[in-house]
Amino acid sequence: MKKPIVIYSSKRGSTKQYAEWIAEELSCEAVSFEESYNINLYEYDFIIYGGWIRGSGIVDFDKFTQSFDDELLKRLIVFGVGIANPSAENYMQVWSFSIGKIDSRNEHKIILYLLEGTYDPGKVTGLDKFLMFIMKKVLISGSTKDSMEQARKMQDRIERGIDLVKRENIDGILKDTRKILNGAK
Ligand SMILES: Cc1cc2nc3c(=O)[nH]c(=O)nc-3n(C[C@H](O)[C@H](O)[C@H](O)COP(=O)(O)O)c2cc1C
Repeated sequence: MKKPIVIYSSKRGSTKQYAEWIAEELSCEAVSFEESYNINLYEYDFIIYGGWIRGSGIVDFDKFTQSFDDELLKRLIVFGVGIANPSAENYMQVWSFSIGKIDSRNEHKIILYLLEGTYDPGKVTGLDKFLMFIMKKVLISGSTKDSMEQARKMQDRIERGIDLVKRENIDGILKDTRKILNGAK
């Protein structure tokens, strides 16, 4: 059996929760991004990185992977946690701001999963609050009927808040990861 590790970057806890559930299911460690500097990643066969999504980017993903070579990239599995509808359009945007930046042809077959998170407007302050205010305004510019609908849904989630964190959301990532862990990537 191959040895995985889960690394996460979480501001308000939902990504950490997913990381801990995944680690529990795979019987491995879940370590925060800050703590991961002390870890020799080459000791692990698979590295599952999860970060919360901010402005379509996966937080700390760039920093985490900046010194990755081919060997580590081949071992990488990524999940992003956000509140946007997991549409193909949103997926492509998050992908291009993360994996697309380090492996634009996906030569290392890095898989990206989007998991639904939590948003509480009452708990967001400072620059994050301002960013959400801008995002709500920018969202109005959807052009097709579908993208308008998605935008309206996201606006509503930003205004009222939402909690979409459920343990079963990790089923897909677990199924695929177990397959990879038992065979070859
Ligand atoms: C400033 C800011 C920007 C965000 N941008 C996005 C985004 O582009 N797409 C998305 O799906 N969610 C976005 N979110 C929602 C967060 O990703 C969501 O609240 C997530 O669950 C937070 O994870 P955490 O609890 O681990 O910190 C944003 C939240 C904040 C505060």
